[in-house]
Amino acid sequence: MLEDIEKVLITREELQKSAEELGKRISADYRGKKLVLIGVLKGGVVFLSDLIRHIDIPLDLDFISVSSYGDSTRSSGVVRIMKDVDIDVMGKHVLIVEDLVDSGLTLKYLKDLFQARGPKDVKCCAALDKPSRREVEIEIEYKGIEIPDEFVVGYGMDFAERYRNLPDVCVLKPHIYYE
Ligand code: PRP
Ligand code: MN
Ligand code: MG
Repeated sequence: MLEDIEKVLITREELQKSAEELGKRISADYRGKKLVLIGVLKGGVVFLSDLIRHIDIPLDLDFISVSSYGDSTRSSGVVRIMKDVDIDVMGKHVLIVEDLVDSGLTLKYLKDLFQARGPKDVKCCAALDKPSRREVEIEIEYKGIEIPDEFVVGYGMDFAERYRNLPDVCVLKPHIYYE
């Protein structure tokens, strides 16, 4: 697996520092409010597990599974729900937790989906932001690290379901993508 890596783009230390800062901001902003954190499977789980350990206020945790990329490096543009949340978000503050906002299509879909369920508000926290690839205008209220236009894996992110367990955010050698 390590032999497939071209370079490390964001180190585990930078990711930890960013998760800590975001967790502290979220703790301060949502204190005294009914917070529901929604992890977006599968990519969002690694960041989510780092983030929640830096949030020191009560919260409900749930997961939704959506996919738009399949085994390709390009979004299909069609977002599909594979598993919905169990929690009723009515009257609560929803915070969607994502690993990456790329075209923005997934986040736009999720924000609209939860907005329609009667919450107090819907915001997003993303570990990484790739603004150069945005196709829809979308606000990321809690934004981690900005990255250039490269296909990244690791820290939850996959290429054809592999490499999610790499601790750093990495770029693969070109031949891996083209094989
Ligand atoms: C990836 C990533 C984000 C989304 C971002 O998920 O985890 O959820 O794409 O891309 P976008 O801004 O262009 O919509 P993917 O669809 O690959 O599913 P996965 O999390 O299960 O890998
Ligand atoms: Mn995802
Ligand atoms: Mg994926």
